[in-house]
Amino acid sequence: MELWDVFKRRKMVRSFRQDAVPADSLDRVLASVLHAPSAGYTQGNEYLLIDDPDEVAWFWGAIDDPSDAMGPDDAALLAPVVVVPLAHKDAYLARYSQPDKQPYGLGDEEKWPVPFWYVDAGMASMCILMAAIEEGLGAWFFGFAHGEAEVMEHFGVPPQFRQAGAIALGYAADADPLSAGASSKKRARRGVDDLVHRNRW
Ligand SMILES: Cc1cc2nc3c(=O)[nH]c(=O)nc-3n(C[C@H](O)[C@H](O)[C@H](O)COP(=O)(O)O)c2cc1C
Repeated sequence: MELWDVFKRRKMVRSFRQDAVPADSLDRVLASVLHAPSAGYTQGNEYLLIDDPDEVAWFWGAIDDPSDAMGPDDAALLAPVVVVPLAHKDAYLARYSQPDKQPYGLGDEEKWPVPFWYVDAGMASMCILMAAIEEGLGAWFFGFAHGEAEVMEHFGVPPQFRQAGAIALGYAADADPLSAGASSKKRARRGVDDLVHRNRW
């Protein structure tokens, strides 16, 4: 697929068929993160893959906020696969304490103007979103706050890793009712001239 076609198709899909994603397809999507850039080539972030149907069902239940709980019709459209990108700050601090990076003085978290472990999680997430398109899959990057601690504990994620959102993957359902209230339906896409400040703000 042409790169610009991938960009044009790159829309969040929130409603999925329940068919399993073939293992080879999922493996290729996951392998896309190997091509993500990372600060200092730290490659410090890791990923939690949830594709066991019982575990996926548990995950969706754990993050469902009871104050805004999903109904059964919506729950039936949730993705069969979830990837949680895990930011690993300590790996970055260790990398930037190595001799070639030490002169930058970033061995201490306070010195980082930008937490690149989260930036890199976003870089890798975009690789996953784009690889999903190439594989004919739908994908949805989303944030979760409710149930975070339970999810980390349930899946045995070591405490030094922090979730940086999550990515739902699967085949798109014929219709996408779960995107009905999405921000992209309510807000117009801004233009290049609106966003880009050429040489001066
Ligand atoms: C960091 C980040 C967090 C997001 N969190 C959510 C979320 O919690 N729920 C959701 O439905 N969409 C979430 N989105 C998706 C955005 O709403 C979506 O990207 C935006 O509305 C543009 O739509 P599009 O990606 O379909 O073009 C998130 C996207 C990003 C990049």
